[in-house]
Amino acid sequence: MKTSPKLSCHIRPARAADLANLLALENLSFTGERLNERRMRHWINASNGILLVANATASPGQLLGYCLAFTRKNSTVVRAYSLAIAPKARGMGLGGKLLERAAKKGKQQGCTHIRLEVAKGNISAIALYKKLHYVSFASIPDYYEDGQDAWRMHNVL
Ligand SMILES: CC(C)(COP(=O)(O)OP(=O)(O)OC[C@H]1O[C@@H](n2cnc3c(N)ncnc32)[C@H](O)[C@@H]1OP(=O)(O)O)[C@@H](O)C(=O)NCCC(=O)NCCS
Repeated sequence: MKTSPKLSCHIRPARAADLANLLALENLSFTGERLNERRMRHWINASNGILLVANATASPGQLLGYCLAFTRKNSTVVRAYSLAIAPKARGMGLGGKLLERAAKKGKQQGCTHIRLEVAKGNISAIALYKKLHYVSFASIPDYYEDGQDAWRMHNVL
């Protein structure tokens, strides 16, 4: 029988003091198209931003993951823009938890759907989104800077 290791964590909105840890996590998680310091700071403060972080309960200074989503005026779609889990915390359910929490916040703000893009080669992320019942509805060639194609996926909130 497959058992998942337990991970006790606390999910909360990001704050200015998280900036350095968020950037470190971004560097560990992505090779290209990373959020830079200016953009990350913007999203920590943006009124339409939903930037959530997860801390290990036992070690509150330690950032295990983050999810960034945002809403737009006159739109009922919340866009999940980025999701990253520290390598040592992957496979323990945290990515799913963070994304679902961000989706819930979008719903509380009046959104009816959530949308995201994912590289067609990102097997683990696609598996995660499918597990959460996201559906691909468009294929976007050459979506990323490095030429990778993307799926556009969405889900009902
Ligand atoms: C993609 C990512 C966010 C997944 O986070 P995670 O916390 O490891 O995912 P979870 O533990 O919540 O996984 C939930 C489900 O996703 C799928 N999944 C996650 N990692 C997987 C992997 N390596 N291989 C296959 N399926 C995987 C499984 O269906 C899993 O459910 P299961 O454990 O019951 O089998 C994480 O691997 C990551 O940060 N990757 C680098 C950054 C990135 O690619 N972000 C996404 C950009 S679109």
